[in-house]
Amino acid sequence: MTNERMLIVGGRRLEGMVRISGAKNSAVAVIPATILSSTPCVIENLPDIEDVRVSVETLRHLGATVDWDPAGGVMQVDPSTINKTEVPLELSRKMRASSYYIGVLLARYGEARVPMPGGCDIGRRPIDQHLKGMRALGATVETSYGMVIAESPGLVGNDIFMDMVTVGGTINVMLAATRAEGMTIIHNAAKEPHIVDLANFLNSMGCRIKGAGTDTIRIRGTREMVARRPYAIIPDQIETGTLMIAAAGTHGDVTITGCIPTHMEALTAKLLEMGARVDEKDDAIRVRSLGGHRSVSFKTQVYPGFPTDLQQPMSALLCTASGTSRVVENIFESRFRHLAEMERMGANIRVYEQTAVIEGVPQLHAAAVEASDLRAGAALVIAGLMAQGTTEIYNTHYIDRGYEHLEDKLNSLGAKISRFTP
Ligand code: EPZ
Repeated sequence: MTNERMLIVGGRRLEGMVRISGAKNSAVAVIPATILSSTPCVIENLPDIEDVRVSVETLRHLGATVDWDPAGGVMQVDPSTINKTEVPLELSRKMRASSYYIGVLLARYGEARVPMPGGCDIGRRPIDQHLKGMRALGATVETSYGMVIAESPGLVGNDIFMDMVTVGGTINVMLAATRAEGMTIIHNAAKEPHIVDLANFLNSMGCRIKGAGTDTIRIRGTREMVARRPYAIIPDQIETGTLMIAAAGTHGDVTITGCIPTHMEALTAKLLEMGARVDEKDDAIRVRSLGGHRSVSFKTQVYPGFPTDLQQPMSALLCTASGTSRVVENIFESRFRHLAEMERMGANIRVYEQTAVIEGVPQLHAAAVEASDLRAGAALVIAGLMAQGTTEIYNTHYIDRGYEHLEDKLNSLGAKISRFTP
């Protein structure tokens, strides 16, 4: 945690072309999955972000041999040197996705000791569904002293009904089921793009997973997994959406390349409804706007609905849309902390439980504001780009968890963003 701050000179149009980085939420699932391979794995298109650096530290702590080239986005993992099955608290508390090490260590070594993930600024985020899945596969799972202790002499496939759609729960159970004997069927599974990406990676190592991307995923366990070729992860859906929103918010003209337009449909529909122009190509999206945005309303949903991770950036854009916008956050219980910061920039927002009512104002004004989590930070960057004056954002480390060189990307499009430590 540093006291570094970000300075954003507002009111500048974004124009030009920018390339998307690899997906954070794919990276933090695919990297632990390399533990399942009997041979060294090569992963490509990894973003140089804090969560990937923590994943490297975690693999190295377990004893894996990891070569990581942040600039090239290429990582080679040799899991054959792993000699531990416990993740330490100082690493697990840095990243929510540390819970995935329960599934991979249990599958590969029959045991795992991983600290319970703490809650964070968007909600409690329990992992009861993850543990329900491990138990359904025959593992004994206890929690003591804040640790999850899971053991199994050998996992056995089963039918597992998730009580709610959970991305992490689906991923963790899928990871464990790869080495369970026989067939595992996950019902009510999450369908996010990074779940499909993980399934594709596992299948590239000899797994037999069918139905990823639907609400029923079938995993036939396999004795051995062998990485045969490098695997490149998908582009980041949420970074794509963040840049799309920034383009619209600055009344700019930005082409985002190396993205997957079909992953963006829920956001694209809302930007069009607001009056922005969105043109899709095979692996690029162009967003143009002359301003004069209309208000829109949306509810966050599981994929392919409007993603909760884009709720915060989108709420910044809605602050100056004419009329009344209603935003309902259905996934997490406290994902509105950025709204108070935007009110300090002149936004007019009222919150009723899970609903934020945003009355458009003509202009936001710069202020010193505090990021409370990763996507709140992204929302404040967008508000700063839109505001009159120079905005100062505290807690920039949150932004660095999930966005690779965000200000470099924005400055290449004409923004004026710098960092300083007072
Ligand atoms: C993943 O979190 C993402 N993180 C989140 O992105 C994203 O917001 C979320 O999915 C929803 O899309 C990663 O992929 C690393 P969930 P996850 O399990 O897996 C409840 C970002 O900004 N729940 O789908 O934790 C939970 O409390 C981050 O990149 C249980 O009750 O999300 C939440 O209310 C933020 N019990 C809801 O389900 C469980 O066992 C959805 O959580 C699991 C979840």
